[in-house]
Amino acid sequence: MRRAIVIGASSGIGRELAVVLSQNGFAVGLMARRLELLEDLRNSLKGPAFSRPADISDSSTAMTLLDDLIAEMGGVDLVVIASGTGFINPDLDWAMEKTTLDVNVGGFTAMANVAFRHFVQAGGGHLVGISSIAAIRGSATAPAYNASKAFMSNYLEGLRVRARKAGLAIVVSDIQPGFVDTAMAQGPGVFWAAAPQTAARQLYKAIQRKAKHAYITKRWSVIGWLLRVLPDFLYAKL
Ligand SMILES: NC(=O)c1ccc[n+]([C@@H]2O[C@H](COP(=O)([O-])OP(=O)(O)OC[C@H]3O[C@@H](n4cnc5c(N)ncnc54)[C@H](OP(=O)(O)O)[C@@H]3O)[C@@H](O)[C@H]2O)c1
Repeated sequence: MRRAIVIGASSGIGRELAVVLSQNGFAVGLMARRLELLEDLRNSLKGPAFSRPADISDSSTAMTLLDDLIAEMGGVDLVVIASGTGFINPDLDWAMEKTTLDVNVGGFTAMANVAFRHFVQAGGGHLVGISSIAAIRGSATAPAYNASKAFMSNYLEGLRVRARKAGLAIVVSDIQPGFVDTAMAQGPGVFWAAAPQTAARQLYKAIQRKAKHAYITKRWSVIGWLLRVLPDFLYAKL
């Protein structure tokens, strides 16, 4: 039986992906802080499921907890890092910026390191990071969020090249969603928001085809292209 761990499985995209993975025959490991939601999900799944409450902003404790979960599952073939946070922060409140960096940069990197090291030892595996279309350009109102997502995408590329150079059978996927209708995407500027179930289905397809990169949903590739080509003076007017 294939084994997958979803970090950030208590709600939103991660939760729905865990459901899809379980329906497709994966044993699933579920991580996030809200244990009650993880337990509800675990009890609702028909296949084998494991849970571990963890706050990834406490990176060293979370690394031990992920190692423990991998050991309990007898190894893992797929690790998806969906945990993330972000704030609209017009006043550049430092606490908000720091929380974003602690989760999206420190926590993400810690989890990616544990997964990558496990895959090196196991002789292969698949690491998936849920970055964002926000990785493409800086944000005036949420600078730490966009910068943290740029870090994620760049770090994932680094790990992919590292695996390739070493001839390791490790696949690394950078997933960049546009808006998905979850707690993280609320407010007046939201458009083309996909249902989290739709996002999870497309994400699962990207995992199956071992995509290096995918926009979720697919039509966000148009926005991705626009963001890349838009001159600074026009981007500043958005
Ligand atoms: N929704 C969008 O429009 C959108 C667009 C682009 C990218 N994304 C990315 O998609 C990912 C999933 O977000 P979502 O939209 O599904 O929102 P969500 O429902 O709020 O899910 C966020 C997940 O991250 C977990 N998380 C947050 N802080 C954590 C921490 N300190 N330690 C461990 N887990 C933590 C949450 O679990 P706990 O609170 O239980 O810990 C939850 O499971 C995020 O990385 C987000 O940046 C979302």
